[in-house]
Amino acid sequence: MGDLAYGRGVRQEPGMGPTNRPQTDFPVPAPLKSHGPARIIALCNQKGGVGKTTTTINLGATLAEYGRRVLAIDFDPQGALSAGLGVQTHDVPTIYDLLLSRSAKPADAIQKTRVPGLDVIPANIDLSAAEVHLVNEVAREQILASVLRKVSDDYDVILIDCQPSLGLLTVNALTASHGVLIPLECEFFALRGVALLIETIDKVRDRLNPAIELDGILATMYDSRTLHSREVLDRVVEAFGDKVLETVIGRTVKFPDASVAGAPITQFAPEHAAARAYRQLARELVSRGAVA
Ligand SMILES: Nc1ncnc2c1ncn2[C@@H]1O[C@H](COP(=O)(O)OP(=O)(O)OP(=O)(O)O)[C@@H](O)[C@H]1O
Ligand SMILES: [Mg+2]
Repeated sequence: MGDLAYGRGVRQEPGMGPTNRPQTDFPVPAPLKSHGPARIIALCNQKGGVGKTTTTINLGATLAEYGRRVLAIDFDPQGALSAGLGVQTHDVPTIYDLLLSRSAKPADAIQKTRVPGLDVIPANIDLSAAEVHLVNEVAREQILASVLRKVSDDYDVILIDCQPSLGLLTVNALTASHGVLIPLECEFFALRGVALLIETIDKVRDRLNPAIELDGILATMYDSRTLHSREVLDRVVEAFGDKVLETVIGRTVKFPDASVAGAPITQFAPEHAAARAYRQLARELVSRGAVA
């Protein structure tokens, strides 16, 4: 049964057991001969605590392991992404400065992380004032898109870690993106609010960004010890079919531990099943064409 969970021949770990998802061995992606322009992906769900930030950090780190140049954008005033990657958020230029001032240079706000190939633009609590300031701007939904255009050529993928809301910042993220990845926690209320999220994506497609695609729905915090987790996952698959990614992220305390350490799980516990699950996610997204 263990091979159903996290790739063939992978040992089953406590709390990281089998799902009833198909399990393709996605190939290790070939190195890229040249880099950029980036495909931009928003990690979005207005429900809090579903794994948006954890996925941004660990997908960013695993794509970087596979030689992709990755830029992660902290788009949440809580700054959890910045903290999880161990970068400065005070007395440095942040995404807020780039949104508010057309003369601010994105290059000045980009920080390297301890993962080679993974850079970040940080955020701090200042960003909570951005919605109010942007409301009266011309083309207020397109401001992040115009910021990211300036750095897109230097990266293969840009991941935007959205805050848990469907407000103007999230609409900016969706307007700037080629794709959306929706993390869903495998618990009872997982599907609540997803219809509204899909509706928001549809509106953005109609009015602002005709090219935006739903890249996938990622089941997170799957707990094999509960029948409940499996039932929720079944329901999600029933609702979204092949939009649900094969890769499923198990529930493990290694994630909070890694956040405290300010490192992706791939560095904190490189051989842990959860690190392998995020490598598989990176390979699956490359196989699906969501990432170069
Ligand atoms: N697979 C997992 N197993 C166990 N804990 C997890 C897992 N993924 C994330 N967590 C933990 O759950 C909490 C919420 O995760 P995370 O911050 O990634 O969610 P989020 O969707 O970004 O939340 P918010 O909406 O507040 O921004 C964090 O403490 C994180 O360490
Ligand atoms: Mg978050």
